[in-house]
Amino acid sequence: MAKVKTAFFCQNCGTQFAKWQGQCTACKEWNTITEELIEKPEKVSWKTSESPSANRRTKPLKINEIDATTEARLDTKNKEFNRVLGGGIVPGSLILLGGEPGIGKSTLLLQIALQMPYKLLYVSGEESQKQIKMRAERITTTAENCYILTETKTQNIFRQIEELQPEMVVIDSIQTLHSDYIESSAGSISQIKECTTELIKYAKETATPVLIIGHITKDGNIAGPKILEHMVDTVLQFEGDRNHVYRILRAHKNRFGSTHEIGIYEMLSDGLREVANPSEILISKNEEILSGTAIAATLEGIRPLLIEIQALVSTAVYGTPQRTTTGYNAKRLNMILAVLEKRAGFRLGAKDVFLNITGGITVDDPAIDLAVVAAILSSNEDIPLPKDICFAAEVGLAGEVRPVARVEQRILEAEKLGFATIMISKYCKIPKMNSGIQIQKVAGIEEVVAHLFG
Ligand code: TYD
Ligand code: MG
Repeated sequence: MAKVKTAFFCQNCGTQFAKWQGQCTACKEWNTITEELIEKPEKVSWKTSESPSANRRTKPLKINEIDATTEARLDTKNKEFNRVLGGGIVPGSLILLGGEPGIGKSTLLLQIALQMPYKLLYVSGEESQKQIKMRAERITTTAENCYILTETKTQNIFRQIEELQPEMVVIDSIQTLHSDYIESSAGSISQIKECTTELIKYAKETATPVLIIGHITKDGNIAGPKILEHMVDTVLQFEGDRNHVYRILRAHKNRFGSTHEIGIYEMLSDGLREVANPSEILISKNEEILSGTAIAATLEGIRPLLIEIQALVSTAVYGTPQRTTTGYNAKRLNMILAVLEKRAGFRLGAKDVFLNITGGITVDDPAIDLAVVAAILSSNEDIPLPKDICFAAEVGLAGEVRPVARVEQRILEAEKLGFATIMISKYCKIPKMNSGIQIQKVAGIEEVVAHLFG
């Protein structure tokens, strides 16, 4: 009987070891190393018949001689998705889409597969063809060229691909795939690595883009492997609060575009709707004016976005005051509270402070600081802010109001949405704009307080 080959893999970073050890020497995690069966026959190729790479040699070329005419990207017919990718799908690229279970990964990629005017193969290891059909019926009725395959064995998938010759392949999900060349079970590090390698080979040799869905673990990493992220060209993350309808698509890595862009979707009963004007949905349309809310003009990528910040300041009932944030950095909130205490004389030390960014999105743009300050003060004083004012500035430790990047864009967006006033730092250099919005420049926290509540 042939000897069973095994190796040890760190389940966190994917490093391979010859024997078991308690701590991974690569990523320093404890108890992450497990034994997996491996069995590697002579070759590994996406094609079962021949190994094309063995005969084909690539020659070095002078960089000036390389033809750089950008290959036409595939239009996904989904503006948000195109934008996040940097203008469509690059032929031969591998795109990994991560996200929590139930967030809508399958829905998003199926919807894109149904919309695209290319011959597509959607491979699912998670749902039956019937289930996918039911889902597709919810989403759309127009789909001529989308093929569904339920299969988990890569060799069988490649056999179907060779027959069908699709122009794009979607894999749902990499954790369900299984290659014959490796003995260990589906979802293990060595299987994921092997299946991804085979897919990369296929994508690069045929210039067919492959979209892969990957599950993520509790701590937000794509299950199994950081290595998976290194192997693919683009890593997208689909995120959002499952209790909210909004979903955000971000690029964490992109070899063919920037990682600053985001795409916003709304999960409806008939699929994901692209949200073209996010500011409108992120600001609640309450008729009555409430204390404790302020609007921040922030930027996501190159897109200006107006969001609503809500604060609740109340006297702490129990000994230690609570500080809770949703969508905003908790340490930054503590810093802002300390600045308000020290520089503006507000006694917030014995108060509970809750801060919430509406819509379930997370923002790390420092330009929302001033709106956070305004919301906290408004709640503390129980005086509502005027409805038509918004804020775009960072707050420093000395209580100074600091300028932020691309303030003109924020001003234009605020004006577009009908705000009458925007409060920015005195030190912002803005070109002369003949805009209808009033620009209020402030230098420090005291001045903000005087303007808003004075
Ligand atoms: P799904 O795409 O299966 O998530 P994932 O693949 O990331 O695990 O999304 C499942 C959720 O989406 C489920 O809770 C139902 C909801 N949904 C809608 O609200 N509208 C729709 O049209 C579809 C297809 C799903
Ligand atoms: Mg799914």
